[in-house]
Amino acid sequence: MTPELITSIAALRARLLPIRRSGQTIGLVPTMGALHLGHRRLIEGARRDNDAVVVTIFVNPTQFDRKDDLERYPRTLTDDMAVCGEQHVDFVFAPDSAEMYPSEQLTWVDVPALTEHLCGPSRPGHFRGVATVVMKLFQIAQADRAYFGEKDAQQLAVIRRMVRDLNMSIEIVAIPTVRESDGLALSSRNQRLTAAERNIAVTLSQALFTAGKAVQNGERSAGTIRTSVLPIFHTHPEVRLEYFSIVDVETLTPVETIATPVLIAGAMYVGTTRLIDNVLAAPPSG
Ligand code: PAJ
Repeated sequence: MTPELITSIAALRARLLPIRRSGQTIGLVPTMGALHLGHRRLIEGARRDNDAVVVTIFVNPTQFDRKDDLERYPRTLTDDMAVCGEQHVDFVFAPDSAEMYPSEQLTWVDVPALTEHLCGPSRPGHFRGVATVVMKLFQIAQADRAYFGEKDAQQLAVIRRMVRDLNMSIEIVAIPTVRESDGLALSSRNQRLTAAERNIAVTLSQALFTAGKAVQNGERSAGTIRTSVLPIFHTHPEVRLEYFSIVDVETLTPVETIATPVLIAGAMYVGTTRLIDNVLAAPPSG
């Protein structure tokens, strides 16, 4: 079944109101389109837990810090509609920028303490744009649950914190990262990689897995782990590492001595394509 494509906020609200009034639950899956297996897993979660499923497809300009990145972002609505049909989505909400930002946005949601590290410094304004558009989507759909991938761990942390701090009555459901068989995390940006770059891209997940194993095996020094892993990135001239960090899972601040569960996260450029990935790791107990 083809989902219903809705482009206006008023139309989406009109369709969702009777569903909510009849006591049925609504699951929301915010995306920027170019849907892949990672997105499908989010939709599957929403389908499993809710009576109605809304997928939003909106390439949000306020979260792009580089104009060329926004322009190059893949836009594949026809294919995305087919994916949503296969996943039994009820509604696809695909507004344009004028619908989402009819006038200058003067109100912003910002969680600065969680964006001081990892992707925050290199992408000024990015998480403010994400939190704000997600808040807008939550207000528009008024869903019971919303689904986000662990792939974007900092984004997930920001959204969880926003919901908590602003007493929003929506449940945030996290879905594990979906990977290719060699470990590369699925991403809409992978489409931009050449065959050679694609082979190199796996370096990031390999380094994260190696670091994660070291933590599980009882290595407590973040510095030692970083020193042993970083040379992996220097083997390819096409790779430019942006960061490789071991941070506290709650505060996202760097950890030196690993005593509690940590998030190990990295970002790197392969050619002109920026890739991010992360793993969670806990030190052995006792
Ligand atoms: P987008 O990059 O399209 O991702 C939409 C959702 O899919 C996010 O929650 C992301 O974490 C999840 N996702 C992407 N790749 C994944 C993978 N390999 N495994 C599991 N989940 C994956 O993230 C955004 O869009 C935007 O910032 C958005 C939240 C929609 C706000 O504009």
